[in-house]
Amino acid sequence: MTLHKPIQNADVDPHDRQGFAHFMLKEIYEQPDVVRQCLAAYLKPGWDSDQDASLSSNPFNLALPDELFATVSEIQLVACGTSRHASLVAQYWFEQLAGIPTRVRSASEFVSAPFPLARNTLTIAVTQSGETADTLAAIAAAKRRSSPAESSLQSWLLGITNQSESSLTKAVDYTLPTLAGTEVGVAATKTFMAQLVVFCCLALEFAFRRQALSPQQLAPTIAALRSLPDQIETTLQHQHEPIQTIAQTFANVKDCIVLGRGINHAIALEGALKLKETTYIHAEGYAGGEFMHGPIALLDATVPVIAIAPAGSVYDSMLANTEKAKANGAPLIGITTVTEPADRTVFAHPLTVPAIDELLSPFLTVVPLQLLAYTIAVQRGLDVDRPRNITKTLTR
Ligand code: F6R
Repeated sequence: MTLHKPIQNADVDPHDRQGFAHFMLKEIYEQPDVVRQCLAAYLKPGWDSDQDASLSSNPFNLALPDELFATVSEIQLVACGTSRHASLVAQYWFEQLAGIPTRVRSASEFVSAPFPLARNTLTIAVTQSGETADTLAAIAAAKRRSSPAESSLQSWLLGITNQSESSLTKAVDYTLPTLAGTEVGVAATKTFMAQLVVFCCLALEFAFRRQALSPQQLAPTIAALRSLPDQIETTLQHQHEPIQTIAQTFANVKDCIVLGRGINHAIALEGALKLKETTYIHAEGYAGGEFMHGPIALLDATVPVIAIAPAGSVYDSMLANTEKAKANGAPLIGITTVTEPADRTVFAHPLTVPAIDELLSPFLTVVPLQLLAYTIAVQRGLDVDRPRNITKTLTR
């Protein structure tokens, strides 16, 4: 059941590249509009904490039942690939903003090793296509397990998908569409961005309803969400050129490491996945701290390290990790925020994104990684919209 309809512009053919060299590039550039469309659907217009705080009116418009928000005590997320990475970002939001214990499992693993059955669980299946076989099997398994049990052991089933008419929407009780429009490029970019917006609104609505955040605390986050489309545009404008230069320098590397900590660990995984699938470079995403426990032995002057180090709680420890990588001869690319001038001395190749709260930083830090993967793939002469061995929808 859903009350939201995808926003389609009937005049625009999604299969027309509209002047872009590839669909992947077009879809990366569509992300500001995708965020605008999702926020228009899921945030109430004109909500303002000064005006509305006394009324404690709900700033969100997700159209899910009150009972769901009131009763859920655990969340389990099942997904594959890029959708799993969006789920890992969401895990951080559900736990850190709303205080709800949350677990993420690859859909393919959930089927044989589900989480122990718990009371009042919300199961969320995330898939841009709505047809990924493993994700459908995971949601079917969650349904089977919970149905004979007592009512508090029955899981709420929610789907997050870009296809409102899909096998997933038929399998779940509720759907939150991601409203990204048709994504043609095989590498998921704008659908990932839309998944983040939907997840962030859901986590914030939980936080609001459970009073984990007051309307006054929520107000700056909502204002920051509304600034995202402009900030993504700024990132695209300012980073496209430096990324061309970095892509030329590193177009022929064989291996690459992407490091992130905290909420940006998931973005390190996503950046490495984008590099792997579009450029065929062996790229690994690691948590900055974990990388020191062995994998650092891989580094030398031929293995670039991309460090995601926006200002915030993990900035200093990310810098410490990158200093160690530098001492081992690795060339350093930094994805940082404009507010940290120290970055210039650490990173030979800094890529800055606008200043942003660390909790929302994945919306921006992922953009240079998408563009870098795209640009290197083009420089290697690869068919960026149709990478080898993978398809847009993995139905088996
Ligand atoms: C990555 C990519 C794949 C998909 C994965 C899940 O760019 O396209 O990793 O993310 O196959 O696909 P969906 O989201 O359709 O379930």
